[in-house]
Amino acid sequence: MTLNEAIIARHSVRKYTDRKIDQETAAELQKIIAECNEKSGVSFQLQLNEPGAFGSGMATYGKFENCTDYIAVVGKKEDEEACGYYGEKIVLRAQQLGLNTCWVALTCNKSKVVYEAKKGEKLIIVIALGYGQTQGHPRPTKPIEDLCKIKNPEMPEWFRTAMEAVQLAPTAVNQQKFVFCLDGNDVEAKTLLGFYARIDLGIAKYHFEIGAGTTFFKWK
Ligand SMILES: Cc1cc2nc3c(=O)[nH]c(=O)nc-3n(C[C@H](O)[C@H](O)[C@H](O)COP(=O)(O)O)c2cc1C
Repeated sequence: MTLNEAIIARHSVRKYTDRKIDQETAAELQKIIAECNEKSGVSFQLQLNEPGAFGSGMATYGKFENCTDYIAVVGKKEDEEACGYYGEKIVLRAQQLGLNTCWVALTCNKSKVVYEAKKGEKLIIVIALGYGQTQGHPRPTKPIEDLCKIKNPEMPEWFRTAMEAVQLAPTAVNQQKFVFCLDGNDVEAKTLLGFYARIDLGIAKYHFEIGAGTTFFKWK
């Protein structure tokens, strides 16, 4: 599965089966996590067989069922965009490995999330992981024209393809509160007002880069 295929296949999944993540898959996840930890300054921490965060002894917590595996995302407040960008790298890798995921800012029991934090760091968000009871489902998106501003005379084809990947990026409550501005080959991605909008922005920027493929552009 290519990353573009992973973008299309990925949907938030909140109900999981009993199937355990095997050692080989966990090792692949640890590999991408180590890479992201090194590059980002964020600390992604894989937690397996830890049922507390999604309600041990309860059938569900929030809308979640049977979720015992997750990634605790730990960092500084100003790292939010990097949490999104690098977290989505891990999410799409997980999708390639046959796993399902869901970003979770609110609907888990944060006091039961297992993680370590250094001074100045806190738990920013959690990424639920596992084998879904289903693959999730497509959801509505804003039209591309509402998600971008173009200074060029016409929207280039590569930019449209990149924006299609942005449309498929997960955002908190599907808010899609951002705008991608194109001026020549410069792209500026800006957040609008919204909860966790900087995490959303990081996620969307990673999707944009994948969608843009080998086309040269520069982040402004
Ligand atoms: C930053 C962020 C926070 C989120 N927090 C939650 C959450 O607390 N609970 C939940 O069930 N889903 C949460 N989600 C998942 C979104 O609801 C979901 O990504 C969005 O509705 C789009 O659907 P999709 O992921 O299937 O494309 C969150 C997503 C993001 C990106």
